[in-house]
Amino acid sequence: MIAKQLSYTLDTIADAAAGFWDIARAYPVITFSGEMGAGKTTFISHLCQLLQVQQHVSSPTFALINEYVLEREGKEVIIFHLDWYRLRDAAEAINAGMEDCIDQAHIGGAYCLIEWPEKAPELLRPPYLAVSIDSTGVEERTMTLQPIETLK
Ligand SMILES: Nc1ncnc2c1ncn2[C@@H]1O[C@H](COP(=O)(O)OP(=O)(O)OP(=O)(O)O)[C@@H](O)[C@H]1O
Ligand SMILES: [Mg+2]
Repeated sequence: MIAKQLSYTLDTIADAAAGFWDIARAYPVITFSGEMGAGKTTFISHLCQLLQVQQHVSSPTFALINEYVLEREGKEVIIFHLDWYRLRDAAEAINAGMEDCIDQAHIGGAYCLIEWPEKAPELLRPPYLAVSIDSTGVEERTMTLQPIETLK
């Protein structure tokens, strides 16, 4: 699939999250790349609001893993919100329990939303959705969605 793009401001971010989810819901692992302050956490927070997550969504920069729960068709779905910024390498990521979150997402019943995936790329395996956020105006952000599929 070719990459899709989506532009939004804070005024239209809720609609953007809905359009995003139409595509992204098929991918249990979603990575968010972009400079510091690009808006990764802000977007994830609005996405979780759309999904009716009850917990407060904040940056997991210090905890590294935030866990939210939502109800889907009578079943609990877990959302792991990971921030790899402070990790030095894949070994540190595995020690912090990041691989377990990814495994759980691939098995089913969980989503994994990962900020700063480039800090431990070895942990990622297809299929996943690679999202990058760029600043394209004072308040405008443009998001590129690139599915990373298994080569056949
Ligand atoms: N269209 C927009 N989308 C998201 N954030 C925006 C937008 N316009 C302005 N902002 C502002 O940009 C900042 C984005 O901060 P945020 O913490 O979401 O970035 P981040 O990419 O998660 O950074 P970090 O790499 O430090 O985790 C916020 O202060 C937010 O209010
Ligand atoms: Mg962040």
